[in-house]
Amino acid sequence: MQEILQELERKRAAARLGGGQKRIDAQHAKGKLTARERIEVLLDEGSFEEWDMFVEHRCTDFGMAEQKIPGDGVVTGYGTIDGRLVFVFSQDFTVFGGALSEAHAEKICKIMDQAMKVGAPVIGLNDSGGARIQEGVASLGGYAEVFQRNVLASGVIPQISVIMGPCAGGAVYSPAMTDFIFMVQDTSYMFVTGPEVVKTVTHEEVTAEELGGALTHTTKSGVADRAFENDIEALLMVRRLFNYLPLSNREKPPVRKSGDPIDRIELSLDTLVPDNPNKPYDMKELIVKTVDDGDFFEIQPDYAKNIIVGFARMDGQTVGIVANQPLVLAGCLDIKSSIKAARFVRFCDAFHIPVITFVDVPGFLPGTAQEYGGIIKHGAKLLYAYAEATVPKITVITRKAYGGAYDVMASKHLRGDVNLAWPNAEIAVMGAKGAVEIIFREDKKDPAKLAEREAAYKARFANPFVAAERGYIDDVILPHETRKRICRSLAMLKDKKLDNPWRKHGNIPL
Ligand code: HXC
Repeated sequence: MQEILQELERKRAAARLGGGQKRIDAQHAKGKLTARERIEVLLDEGSFEEWDMFVEHRCTDFGMAEQKIPGDGVVTGYGTIDGRLVFVFSQDFTVFGGALSEAHAEKICKIMDQAMKVGAPVIGLNDSGGARIQEGVASLGGYAEVFQRNVLASGVIPQISVIMGPCAGGAVYSPAMTDFIFMVQDTSYMFVTGPEVVKTVTHEEVTAEELGGALTHTTKSGVADRAFENDIEALLMVRRLFNYLPLSNREKPPVRKSGDPIDRIELSLDTLVPDNPNKPYDMKELIVKTVDDGDFFEIQPDYAKNIIVGFARMDGQTVGIVANQPLVLAGCLDIKSSIKAARFVRFCDAFHIPVITFVDVPGFLPGTAQEYGGIIKHGAKLLYAYAEATVPKITVITRKAYGGAYDVMASKHLRGDVNLAWPNAEIAVMGAKGAVEIIFREDKKDPAKLAEREAAYKARFANPFVAAERGYIDDVILPHETRKRICRSLAMLKDKKLDNPWRKHGNIPL
């Protein structure tokens, strides 16, 4: 018995050592934690239950039969975050650069299948050189098995990816199909083809950082949702994000009551919106002053900044916030912001998270760049997402709600449950100036007459009451009572039930 125990311990020690001390040191020298250290930071202390520590690859080509490391480059299992169940895989760069073999893929698939059965999220810590080159098509098959599971799990259990090293080739597509991607600055990369291939094919000279670093993907491509300074910060932020989410689509998100009173009055909001309708203000101030304890977890804060999306709590309940940002492009909807918000709304809808929308939108951004880029199709994504969402939808119009963008931003017509407006809201087809220049074109030569027309148009339409008269707005509220009104609405909507017609799936404009 003693011998068996010693053998077990020897095998465990070999697995824990991964690719060996030298490679572990190299990993540390780059400022990176090892696969196991990362799991320790991510999960509650002592909660990790490892599976498949002794799995080995079955490859015999290129001398691989002599190079077997127990665990085969990925640590898998389950544990808890603040007491709630989660499944994890963490790729070990010290073992063949974390490259994915058939056996490595099988380990990931095993925990994904189990997570689906019990209804718990999967967090993937990615640090991998992609398909294990020595295994050829077996590793490609392994990737496809993971992809298939990503797709079937989408909307059923939350899936979170953290990119903590190079992520090349097929390795980027699994994260791309998960709900959120976090990256670590300076040590993580994502690209379909690396700088060398780019140089050969397009003759562009580009560094790995420029091509697929954290900055690139959080500001330019929008592939990643957040970037953090180091492994520890990224993992702690995953814990924070996790706490907003339900374990699966079979349950509601956890309620975490705070001491923040639901009827807290915020008088400073009464002067948030400047008198001059063309002057911007920071919509984030409204968000922070409205949600529990001013605690707002923003998603994609550095991409398409003309729209703000993220998670917060109201009376302890997780909510998704979507808000136009007048500070950037006057809060116009454009291609990037439409896609950003549409994806967020769909995530919230899949996981029973009510959506609160703060509206100050002068319309869709005009121009050839937008039209040629397909703003019609991309803007329709947001319209589609709001229209199909059956979760509680609460909308507050703080100032402008013009044209098609009024319809899109969770209007009553898209089954908004509670639609409120501040007294200075302007709900109209467009601003007064633009409107009179079109309908009174003949007066263009007479500035005085045009100004008179503009004033008349403003008096009639630049307010929330025309919409309120029709019931498109449920009430006109004072800015300082926004929090109270939203909390009450959420309580009223707690047991909301709404189903869409049966279908295999809709055909969202992609
Ligand atoms: C097997 C690999 C490997 C791979 C790295 N290694 N990538 N082994 N298969 N894909 C091994 C290296 O041989 C080395 O072994 C160790 O991992 C560390 O690699 P280094 O190159 O020394 O590290 P670094 O300089 O940090 O560079 C990391 C890297 C680079 C950028 C990831 O290794 C690289 O470019 N690898 C190849 C990436 C790639 O082309 N992957 C295939 C993509 S195609 P030793 O023993 O020296 O420590 C793909 C198709 C999937 O993924 C399609 C699905 C749709």
